[in-house]
Order: sequence, then structure tokens, then C-alpha cells
Amino acid sequence: MSEAIASSSSRSELEERFSEVRDCSMRIAARLSPEDALVQSMPDASPTKWHLAHTTWFFETVILSKLPRYKAFDPAFNYLFNSYYNAVGPRHPRPQRGLITRPSLEQVFAYREYVDAAMLEAIGEADRIDDIVLGLNHEQQHQELMLTDIKHAFFQNPTLPVFGWDERHACRVDQSDWSRQQGGLVEVGATSNRTEFAFDNERPRHQVLLQPYKIATNTVTNGEFAAFIDDGGYRRPEFWLSDGWSAVQSEGWSSPLYWLGGDRGEWTVFTLGGEHPLNLAAPVQHVSFFEAAAFAAWAGKRLPTEFEWEAASRDFAFGSVWEWTRSSYDPYPGFKTFEGMAAEYNGKFMVGQMVLRGGSIATPRGHARSSYRNFFPPNARWQFSGIRLADDWE
Ligand SMILES: [Fe+2]
Repeated sequence: MSEAIASSSSRSELEERFSEVRDCSMRIAARLSPEDALVQSMPDASPTKWHLAHTTWFFETVILSKLPRYKAFDPAFNYLFNSYYNAVGPRHPRPQRGLITRPSLEQVFAYREYVDAAMLEAIGEADRIDDIVLGLNHEQQHQELMLTDIKHAFFQNPTLPVFGWDERHACRVDQSDWSRQQGGLVEVGATSNRTEFAFDNERPRHQVLLQPYKIATNTVTNGEFAAFIDDGGYRRPEFWLSDGWSAVQSEGWSSPLYWLGGDRGEWTVFTLGGEHPLNLAAPVQHVSFFEAAAFAAWAGKRLPTEFEWEAASRDFAFGSVWEWTRSSYDPYPGFKTFEGMAAEYNGKFMVGQMVLRGGSIATPRGHARSSYRNFFPPNARWQFSGIRLADDWE
């Protein structure tokens, strides 16, 4: 995928995009055994098999089930593979997705083929284009989750299996500098111009008032984060938010997730390509919001708000790592949910989570954009999440 998937795509472009996106999920799955594809390492993560079926269920439920001629592949899948849509009905509990040994992985592949054929027919009739585009963007979101979830699962295995995907290709950052931003009244959010897809949470575009500020031109590196650790960062409560300090104690955090070898005095890091020596010049990743905020406090700086980030984003490169912001995930003024079942897509999660901006090496190319709002709870560490610093401009 080199470009964003837009509702203005022609029918043949959409057919092509549909096949590309669906194939990409299958290419991820092709690296896994059926046992790998079933494992669920924690309630927040889902088995690959579930992701493959759920993204298919989404197309089936939002689009195909509305077509009079369509016959469901298996009516039981509506219970098994609904994620969180209350309007669609009851569902299997999220923490128990790894217990769904039947249908088999092969049957899930057959489900995908069945739905793909019906979807290509629906695209051919140019029906429900906006929903098809939403379904493709939804599947791309799950592709990143497939990678983060299998990484977490493999990390639970003492043999540290190699998924076979090199995380290092996009991971080097240059020396960081400060970009000075005047602030003032700026516009943020996606335009209502429907030629570019955006999720409902990116709209409406609106004005915000920013004070003058500085923002780093690069994200924080492993080397910089290692200096925080060496300076006792995880043992000094003065840098931590109260809930963050509680998390350090209860979870026993002493480094980012996937760092190994601290007791040997030589850091290595577990990746989807196996265990490697820690590249000090690469962006730190797999830190929680709490760790990002503590690092910023230690550095005498702060995290940018999501609006500072977006207003300055034309002045720096992004996309190697999701960047925690100091903004809680809230609706924009005038926010309206998508219609129909997709009304539950984003709006109901707007409490207790922080916004991340940018995109990561696991984000499908062309999927993210400067107005894109990712969100996770402040203690989440299994996503490719990192840090960009900001400061007041005095
Ligand atoms: Fe989903």
C-alpha cells in the first residue's frame, strides 16, 4: 500500500486495494503455525486467528449482511468474532479469545475466501463504498495489532521465537534539534472533504489556540532512555505521575518492555526478528505513557499536546514509532460518530486513554496521517510506542 485508501477511489482501484489489504493479513498469518495463531498472551492481545476472523466478520456484518441475497458463512461466528459492538448483540469474552480452538485456522481461511468473493461482487456493484473503505482501514489497524500481539506472545516463550520480520529497517534517528513554533490560532483535524478517508475521531477540523512552544525534530533514542535508567529513573518517584509510580511498583518495571540483559550490564532487545543488541541510535519503543512522562520530567521537558504535535508535524519526520502525547482522548468540538453499527467504532472509548500520534514501523504504509489519533490506556506498553519531547518557548 503506497497511498491512503480513499472513498473517491474508482471501482477497479477499490477492488485492487481490497485484495492488497486482505492479502497483507494473510502474509502475516503465513509466518505462523496454527498453534502460534491461536495463542493469546494477555486479555489486551488477541490471537492472530481471531484477528483474521474478526476483520472478515466486520465486512460480513457491516456490508454483506445487508444484502438480501447474502447467506452467512456460519451464524455462530457473529457471537465468536464480534469485538465490542453492543448493537450487534452478545459476544464471546475478550480475555477468552485464545480458547476458541474451533473453528480451525483452515476454516477461518475458508471464511475469508467466502467473504472475499462476496465482497468483490459488492464492490463490483459499487455499493456501500464508504463502509468498504472503513472496513479496509479497520483491517489495517488489526494488521498492526497482529504484529504487536504475536510479538507479545512470542516474548512469553523462553526460547524467544523469531517471527522473521526485521524491525531495524526504519529505526535509526538523526540527532534531534528543536523546532520553534509560534503557536497562535491553528487548525487541526481532518477536513470534511470526503476524498481522503479519516476516522470519525479526526473530525471536525477546528481551531485551537497554542502558546509558543518548541518541539523536538526527532524521537527519543534508546541511548537517551538508557541514560534515564542509569540515572535511577525507575527508582526516583520525583519524575513519576502518581499512577505511573504505582505501576512501576506493581509491575516491577525497570526498563522498556522487551529490553533484556540489564543484569548483565549489556542491553539486548527482543524484536520480531529475534533478539538483538540494543541499537542506541534507534527510537526507544514499547514504553507506556507513564514512562514517557517520567522521561520528559527527568529531561526537564514535557510531552507535546496532540495539537502541538499536529500543528508542527510538517516540520519533522514521523512514522517510526507511535508518540505519546499529553492529551487525553476526547471528542473534538462538534464530534459526530459514524452512522449505523460503526457508531461504536471510536466514540465510546473516549475516556481514560491518552492520544498517540505518528505511526510506527508496524503501521501499514499509507494508513496513518498527521491528523490520525491512536489511543491506548496510559499503562500500555506492547504497542510500538515512543517519545517526542516538547518545551515551552520562553
Ligand atoms: Fe476491530
